[in-house]
Amino acid sequence: MYKLQKYSLPILLLVHLVHVLLCVAQTSIAFNNINNISTIPFSKGFSPLFGESNIIPSQDDQSVQLHLNQYTGSGFKSSDLYNHGFFSAKIKLPSDYTAGIVVAFYMTNGDIFPKSHDELDFEFLGNLRGKEWRFQTNMYGNGSTNRGREERYYLWFDPSKEFHRYSILWTTNTIIFYIDDVPIREIVRNDAMGADFPSKPMALYATIWDASDWATSGGKYRANYKYAPFIAKFTDLILHGCATNPLEEVVPSKCDEENDQLASIDFATMTSKQKMAMKKFRAKYMYYSYCYDTVRYLVPLSECVIDPVERQRFKDTGRLKFGKKHHPRRFKKRGQVLGARAYENQEDK
Ligand SMILES: *[C@@H]1O[C@H](CO)[C@@H](O)[C@H](O)[C@H]1NC(C)=O
Ligand SMILES: *[C@@H]1O[C@H](CO)[C@@H](O)[C@H](O)[C@H]1NC(C)=O
Repeated sequence: MYKLQKYSLPILLLVHLVHVLLCVAQTSIAFNNINNISTIPFSKGFSPLFGESNIIPSQDDQSVQLHLNQYTGSGFKSSDLYNHGFFSAKIKLPSDYTAGIVVAFYMTNGDIFPKSHDELDFEFLGNLRGKEWRFQTNMYGNGSTNRGREERYYLWFDPSKEFHRYSILWTTNTIIFYIDDVPIREIVRNDAMGADFPSKPMALYATIWDASDWATSGGKYRANYKYAPFIAKFTDLILHGCATNPLEEVVPSKCDEENDQLASIDFATMTSKQKMAMKKFRAKYMYYSYCYDTVRYLVPLSECVIDPVERQRFKDTGRLKFGKKHHPRRFKKRGQVLGARAYENQEDK
């Protein structure tokens, strides 16, 4: 008895440590098979969108930097449009003070179909120094701009410290957003969604720009060019899809083969471990969902999978009831008291 008690504390600590390690492991399942999807050199797959002087490819053409300074932001887009595929890049976001700065990594066909465009987004929404970046994902189909499908989240790491892979898998029936090997959002097509599920060829875009008016605390904290240039880095770019002319009358069966092939890549199906990781991510890091925003959508949109337990955590504005209760504070720097309160109140509509 005595012995047991004597050792119970170290054992408890050990058990706790193992638990912590397992939790960490959960969000870092090795995904070696990404290696069988080849990356594309920047100049081979992409062309400038705007701010060309601020687009800086690496010498080996495997990476590119997008700069934002007081004169201009910058952006690039894939030279082709694709009908479905797997689209991905490793990205490192600007560090330090990034209030008002938005880095977007997304797919759209808005320049070809201005009234009926499709879109899939990752948007990173800047922040005050020492505070975590937040980001959102969204989807539009066939010009459904009056039906935004935003979800907002925190990250489990500091995206300005290292490169992380951000990916969009888009098949005929499913869209999955990934960060590294963790699926963070899945949208499964259903009939009721109709054309809200993206169906026309899209190009892949990346941009950095000044969104001072809304990005951080609803415009309360603006971009400060004392910290310019703001630099977003991209590497290991992947455009794995069926390149298609969007204006071709009949969507050809030419993409059938690519679509079949797409189904066989590892990112096309989630393992049970990944499903678990997605659930955990959403429980811990999602702080807004259009699916729980009954002020906006009295009846949740048809693809919403309403989890009754999860729902209780959200107000009818779709925001968390108790703020970021589970949110880790490990990125907080010493002496960063100023603004901490404002951060708690951070609203970003
Ligand atoms: C997409 O939108 C266009 C323009 O609003 C409309 O004419 C078309 O019928 C829509 N397509 C589908 C499949 O709903
Ligand atoms: C990638 O690797 C996996 C497993 O090693 C394999 O099943 C799959 O077919 C490969 N995908 C491609 C596109 O080569």
